[in-house]
Amino acid sequence: MFASILLLGLCVVFIIVQLKSRRPKNFPPGPAPLPILGNILHLSLENPLKDFERLRKSYGNVYSVFLGPKAAVVINGLKAMKEAIVTKGSDFAGRPQDLFINETTRRKGVILADYGTSWKEHRRFALMTLKNFGLGKNSMEERIHGEIQYIIDALEKSIGQTISPQLMFHNAASNIICQVLFGKRYEYEDEFIKVIVQCFTENAKIANGPWAMLYDSFPIIRSLPLPFNKAFKNVETCQKLAINLVNEHKNTRVPGEPRDFVDCYLDRMDKEKEDGSTFSEAQLTMYALDLHFAGTDTTSNTILTGFLYLMTYPHIQERCQQEIDEVLEGKAQASFDDRLNMPYMQAVIHEVQRIANTVPLSVFHCTTKDTELMGYSIPRGTLIIPNLTSVLNEEGQWKAPNEFNPENFLNDQGAFVKPEAFMPFSAGPRMCLGEGLARMELFLILVTLLRKFKFIWPEDAGEPDYNPVYGVTLTPKPYHMKIQLRAAQ
Ligand code: HEM
Ligand SMILES: *[C@@H]1O[C@H](CO)[C@@H](O)[C@H](O)[C@H]1NC(C)=O
Ligand SMILES: *[C@@H]1O[C@H](CO)[C@@H](O)[C@H](O)[C@H]1NC(C)=O
Repeated sequence: MFASILLLGLCVVFIIVQLKSRRPKNFPPGPAPLPILGNILHLSLENPLKDFERLRKSYGNVYSVFLGPKAAVVINGLKAMKEAIVTKGSDFAGRPQDLFINETTRRKGVILADYGTSWKEHRRFALMTLKNFGLGKNSMEERIHGEIQYIIDALEKSIGQTISPQLMFHNAASNIICQVLFGKRYEYEDEFIKVIVQCFTENAKIANGPWAMLYDSFPIIRSLPLPFNKAFKNVETCQKLAINLVNEHKNTRVPGEPRDFVDCYLDRMDKEKEDGSTFSEAQLTMYALDLHFAGTDTTSNTILTGFLYLMTYPHIQERCQQEIDEVLEGKAQASFDDRLNMPYMQAVIHEVQRIANTVPLSVFHCTTKDTELMGYSIPRGTLIIPNLTSVLNEEGQWKAPNEFNPENFLNDQGAFVKPEAFMPFSAGPRMCLGEGLARMELFLILVTLLRKFKFIWPEDAGEPDYNPVYGVTLTPKPYHMKIQLRAAQ
């Protein structure tokens, strides 16, 4: 009896020692992990930001945590960030392939594709296609202005009233990228756009919420019917819609005369008939969804943050409007080039992006080979969490890191300057490939709407709550805005 208990005890100790997650040699420091659980008990699953802040204080700008048995390295501050994702860009340009979000996309598309030929070819293809469809040329500006007209129509119906702007801006951002991808837009009441926007916003919250973190940490629970299954259902729903659109294109396209991104992709597939091509129809549907998703929630949440601050800092809104009136005097509409004459507006938009901190932990990276960072050794395949927040509000990089203040982007002469620590789109080889489009949208939408309307924080709305809702993308808490028409310019 005693012997068997002793034996059992020894077995348990042996298993625990075997399972104990250990840091590799010269690995970034962090809290001691428990067997199997790792550091999961050190973190609040609802909103781990405070816990991370504490860890950074104890262990420095580059530290590690164990999500279950898996080690992750968190990177904070401009210096370490630049060394990793820029200077050693290709070492850090992988994407983890065993996480929740990987499974939602079935490894297709570009956002979550691992560093390699398929990702490279698809990234290059997207950049080129976006450019050919008018990025930098007028047609993209025209498309954005076209969508803005629908926003204006919606706002004009609400003059003097209070509205909730969330869905409207999500829809507008969705439509702009949708036109590039599929060559069409949807009325704001359309079922398609309602479903798409709903799926996108839900998944942006699920993807790094508590259930996803548990999913990542404990593979054993993956097949259980837990809330993360909702995300898989959402992707399936969207995929069905995308497949329909692609089929429609296949029936109506004229090869060699592309109307939109999908047509370009189908042309490219025709050209690459031989085996081994990374271009395929299954890739196309996921890819289109990737771009649609990446271009919707990000842009709209940035705009929503913009209006939250512009309403509650009315003197900043007025100064923008003054500059807009002066520069656009006599012009029917703003063009993207007008930004060069609007240093204040430029500063405000960049400050909105800095404060909005729309993608706080970027998209997780993964090392592609054994490498070093700030003197630490990091083996190949380590999960990397780039903390963009820590750069966007780093002490010493900004005049006023902790307040909403356009002076962060203005020099003493009032000219627009962009500090190196401005990286809401990340940096290096994985940097957001929609930056050009996003910046054009932010400028044209904000300038056009501010020129025409005055946005007022409703008297009965109480104190504004600037704390965003946590997720892959940060979302301002829902709010209302009151709209007035400005005097004719
Ligand atoms: C204000 C708007 C936006 C912000 C703040 C933003 C931010 C980001 C960030 C932080 C990343 C991760 C980069 C990394 O892994 O290091 C990213 C990736 C990406 N973004 Fe954006 N983005 C925005 C708009 C857009 C738009 C409009 C598009 C669509 C054309 C887009 C398409 C993508 C794609 C495809 C990736 C993945 C790139 C890759 O893995 O190679 N984004 N974005
Ligand atoms: C990222 O940095 C911000 C600001 O320094 C901090 O509050 C947050 O906890 C950090 N997140 C992680 C994951 O380290
Ligand atoms: C993620 O991708 C990898 C490789 O591409 C695949 O083997 C794996 O099954 C995927 N999903 C999960 C949950 O690991």
